[in-house]
Amino acid sequence: MSGLLNPIALTRLLGSWNSGTLPAYRELADVVRLLVMDGRIPLDVALPSERALAQTLGLSRTTVTAAYSSLREQGFLTTGQGSRGRTCIPQRTSPVTMPGLAAPEGLLDLAYASLPAAGEVVHRAFADALTELPALLPGFGYDAVGVPALRQAIADKYTADGVPTNAQQILVTSGAQHALNIVLKTLAGKQDKVLVEHPSYPNALDAIRAAGCRPFPVALPAAGSAPAWDIDAMEAAMHHHRPAMAYLVPDFHNPTGRIMSGLQRRRLARAAASAGTVLVVDETLRGLNLDGVSAAPMAAFSPTVVSIGSLSKSHWAGLRTGWIRADEALVNRMVTTRTTMDLGAPMVEQLAAARLVSAYSEPLDARLAELRNNRDSLMELLAEHLPSWDPERPQGGLTVWCRLPSPCSTALTVLAPEFGVRLAAGPRFGVGGAFEHYMRVPYTLPPAQLEVAVRALRAAQDKLDASPQLRRSLKTERPAAVGVA
Ligand SMILES: Cc1ncc(COP(=O)(O)O)c(C=O)c1O
Repeated sequence: MSGLLNPIALTRLLGSWNSGTLPAYRELADVVRLLVMDGRIPLDVALPSERALAQTLGLSRTTVTAAYSSLREQGFLTTGQGSRGRTCIPQRTSPVTMPGLAAPEGLLDLAYASLPAAGEVVHRAFADALTELPALLPGFGYDAVGVPALRQAIADKYTADGVPTNAQQILVTSGAQHALNIVLKTLAGKQDKVLVEHPSYPNALDAIRAAGCRPFPVALPAAGSAPAWDIDAMEAAMHHHRPAMAYLVPDFHNPTGRIMSGLQRRRLARAAASAGTVLVVDETLRGLNLDGVSAAPMAAFSPTVVSIGSLSKSHWAGLRTGWIRADEALVNRMVTTRTTMDLGAPMVEQLAAARLVSAYSEPLDARLAELRNNRDSLMELLAEHLPSWDPERPQGGLTVWCRLPSPCSTALTVLAPEFGVRLAAGPRFGVGGAFEHYMRVPYTLPPAQLEVAVRALRAAQDKLDASPQLRRSLKTERPAAVGVA
């Protein structure tokens, strides 16, 4: 399309749009919105003038004007003065809040470490996916391993990363959390020990517990001390306790943002092999490398490593697309497990994901530049407004792990909504109530909102400091159940 949509072409795309059940302007706006969303009207295309469209559709000009205004309000038409509106998709400065466990409207959400979609790249992938969908429609639609194009794209990505992989080694899942549940159900029995870094990712700890296993925590060394992982302690834990599995996040660990060196990976892989522990590595954050420090994927160090990946942080969590990489025989076992949970991932998402994985780094330059800026702003804001906090500078990922001056994480979390902020308390990241001395702060919001959030944290901290009694009473309170990512 030439960048200009003529009224005849738009009329053809609209089809029989007017059902008469709603005001005409609303129906017209709704149908145009759908056409933009599913890619049949491309982005950055000028819609016909109001007069021309009104004439072609046999409507009053007022109706078309109202439809265009509604599209503008919803963010599907640019608002440039004088010129005709061009199609676009809504750019939000704050995330859309979801019902359920997300922050109520108006609260800044520091419990989720998640970014809005890598906008147009994701949208375009879905538009392309729709053009490929007809080829799949004659099939049953059940595919427990994943569509071939996506499995191949993921395998190619590992191969390019230095770990030769074929498509049969890939199982497509509905995100990394789903992947971990499949791995646990396949490899770990009730009461088995699963070695975890301490702190670790809360939803993984919950999944391990929910599978009836026992998380076996090995502490990460204090911030700033080298090396970043205590491999001696992990080796000793594997040797003495023989955990069935180890769940680790060596690539921009959640919550600390650390990366494990190649040397440490090699030692860990050797220790796991000699203890009979299956190393399960979660690479969900691997693409978010802020400082350019990298190491080969853990699978490069042992053929028995099980790797979990996801597009949630690099592209968009709403894709709900992840994967498992393992040896082919294990993938086949995991397919059997998977069908006790679901019968495959949705097709359009997989087709879109295949496009995104094939051009994996396309949105990353812009995304990383923004994240670096956010991280640096957050570090400065914390130094300025909360000098008694001791934040660890992350090398990647989405969050800063801060040591607090006192064990007040739960109290701060309970108090924070009063100041407009939703937090996930430090103990969510640990086992047995550890990490009252810590708070995770994501840098997924733009600097201006981070400033509001940090000032709010300072106000909450001041209120606590002013009242030891309040601190004592809040410490035993359970923070509201919040979603964390
Ligand atoms: C380490 C880690 N693993 C898994 C997930 C969840 O990934 P997904 O959205 O693909 O289920 C997250 C999300 O925050 C994460 O940080």
